Parts: sequence; C-alpha cells; structure tokens
Amino acid sequence: MKTFTKQQLALRNGQDKPEIWIAYQGIIYDVSNSKMWRNGKHYEHWAGQDLTDELKDAPHTQRVFEKFIPIGQLI
Ligand code: HEM
Repeated sequence: MKTFTKQQLALRNGQDKPEIWIAYQGIIYDVSNSKMWRNGKHYEHWAGQDLTDELKDAPHTQRVFEKFIPIGQLI
C-alpha cells in the first residue's frame, strides 16, 4: 500500500486540492465522491486528518468506511 505523510493528507482537506481524503486507524480513504463530505466537511468534522478519535461522536460505526477502497497508509 502507498504511504502518505500527515502533511500530504492535510492538503486533501477539500479546500487546497481537489481530492478529499480522511484517515481512520491509519488507513486513508478517498471520499471525494461522497455527497456527505462535500468541501471536506462532514457535520463538524474536517477531512485531511486522522479522524479515529472522532468516530465516537458519530451516530454510526466504522462500517461507513466499507464502501471506500483504502488508497494508502498514514505514516
Ligand atoms: C457529529 C458527528 C457525525 C455525524 C452526525 C455523522 C452523520 C453521518 C450520517 C447521517 C451518515 C450517512 C448515514 C450512515 O451511513 O449512517 C454518515 C456517513 C459517513 N460518515 Fe459520518 N457522522 C459524524 C461523524 C463522522 C466521523 C468523525 C467520521 C470519520 C471518522 C465519519 C465518517 C463517515 C463516512 C465515511 C460516511 C459515509 C459517507 C458516504 O457514504 O458517502 N462521520 N455520517
């Protein structure tokens, strides 16, 4: 799997580059096509970072990631 740094992930926040990426448990997912992550924002949460610790605030489980293909690993 490809590896990306925090800095590379941070640029994919829906503002600075066209791609929208989020990381969960060290795995990076491309959510660019998700209507729910438009402009990098999902409720009060922003893309471009590892959101592992924030999943506890969500009304859903990590199963929301199942439909996304992992694109890389956060190092
Ligand atoms: C206040 C916090 C949050 C709320 C209210 C919220 C709400 C929702 C809702 C209603 C959906 C669509 C229905 C469903 O699958 O249950 C969804 C999908 C999703 N959520 Fe959240 N969520 C929150 C936080 C988070 C966090 C912190 C993450 C990442 C760790 C996350 C990642 C996702 C993903 C990847 C999807 C799937 C998007 C898609 O299918 O296009 N959510 N969320």
